[in-house]
Amino acid sequence: MEQNSIKREEWNSKLGFILASVGSAVGLGNLWGFAYSSSEGGGAAFVILYIFVVLIVCFPIFVAEFALGRTTKVSAFLAPIKAAGNNWAPLGWLFIIAPIAIASYYAVVMSWTGEVFIMSIFDNLPKNAKESANFFKYISEGNHVFIGQIFSLGLGSYIVSGGIKKGIEKLNLICMPILFAILFILVIWAAFLGKAGEGYNNLFLNFDIKQLTNPTNIRLAFSQAFFSLSLGIGIMVTYASYLDKKSNLPKQAVQISLLDTIVGLMAGLITFPIIYTFNMSSSIKESTIGTLFTTIPTGLGEYGSLGRLMAVLFFGLAYLAAITSMVSLLEIPVSTLIDKFDIKRKYASIYSFILIFIIGIPSVRNISFLDNLDAMAKTLLIGGGFLVAFLMGWVLPRSLETELENSGSSLKTKYYLKFMLRYITPVLVAWGFIISLYDLVNKFSS
Ligand code: PFF
Repeated sequence: MEQNSIKREEWNSKLGFILASVGSAVGLGNLWGFAYSSSEGGGAAFVILYIFVVLIVCFPIFVAEFALGRTTKVSAFLAPIKAAGNNWAPLGWLFIIAPIAIASYYAVVMSWTGEVFIMSIFDNLPKNAKESANFFKYISEGNHVFIGQIFSLGLGSYIVSGGIKKGIEKLNLICMPILFAILFILVIWAAFLGKAGEGYNNLFLNFDIKQLTNPTNIRLAFSQAFFSLSLGIGIMVTYASYLDKKSNLPKQAVQISLLDTIVGLMAGLITFPIIYTFNMSSSIKESTIGTLFTTIPTGLGEYGSLGRLMAVLFFGLAYLAAITSMVSLLEIPVSTLIDKFDIKRKYASIYSFILIFIIGIPSVRNISFLDNLDAMAKTLLIGGGFLVAFLMGWVLPRSLETELENSGSSLKTKYYLKFMLRYITPVLVAWGFIISLYDLVNKFSS
């Protein structure tokens, strides 16, 4: 196997690694996906399923991905092969196809986000529900979408070309504290809106027990959890490959999942009061990927200059959250090119930029293509999660134990994680994956 002759970089600090992982996890998926899946999936029933999936399924997989990355110290594409031989090459392929597919449409959604941000600065937000449909059409159609897509991919590639410490870590050290500050301001502001209570009720309290077994709800909970935590895609494998031998993997996995879930909930505390106060709830019923770009700008656009200021903050926040996720997606093809072909990071970033730009063209042109690619890529992540759990639980249990020992984990933690990764997690993910596939086929054939 090709080995990179350049010494592998490491994160400068533990905080840098945690913020970069949280930066990858927190993104457009939290700001919209969480609230939107919850509104589609019966409020509290979705939240309960989501938290169950994060705790029982995703947490052990998080540790498994970290362990795989740190034990192999190569990029996600090569890690399964290096650890377990050529039979595991398909997992490596999944780890390269999924991030490229997601990055290709993520850049398009970033383009829309950037455009709404600019329009809020220049006071061009829709002022009522009638204007909002045209508004979304305007930001999402036409050649100008390419400008935002190229800018977002270009910015991401530029940062990734700076390397782990000077590119990705530095970006997250700057952006994440700003992001949390804006999030707090918006949550507090939204709490004082007229129908904040009604919004909270709809997000968390409207509990329909039947929804717990509804296949769409189960698919949404699984795919939202994997997508939001950036799991099953090799990012945590890649980020952990730059980690020193001693960091405590389970502890960091807990911190990252917790922060990501808190951000998802906080985003709901912002969007739901806005939606109910400004009577936009009918438009979320027909929820699609575009809803974030119709309901929130319209609600805030009706609310005078304070509303506009909040729109600038909200979409600024969304763009920051997205760029820290985008760099993590780009890091996978970039690190793979470096490890496999021993080329310079700068060229690896340029090649990845070009490839993802081309693959993203259909998503710029056609929103239903984008929507379907999104649903498929998310389901793929669940499959990736299953394979990682199986790999670390059954094929490489010794490496898992060694990594947990290096982490200074207690005997109890070690047994718990090993037990979960062998007997519980794979069964549950397999179940979630099958239900998701079934629901996806229904979605496409209806
Ligand atoms: N976790 C990011 C979000 O919630 O928007 C999106 C994402 C980034 C998904 C990186 C997957 C990934 F590998």
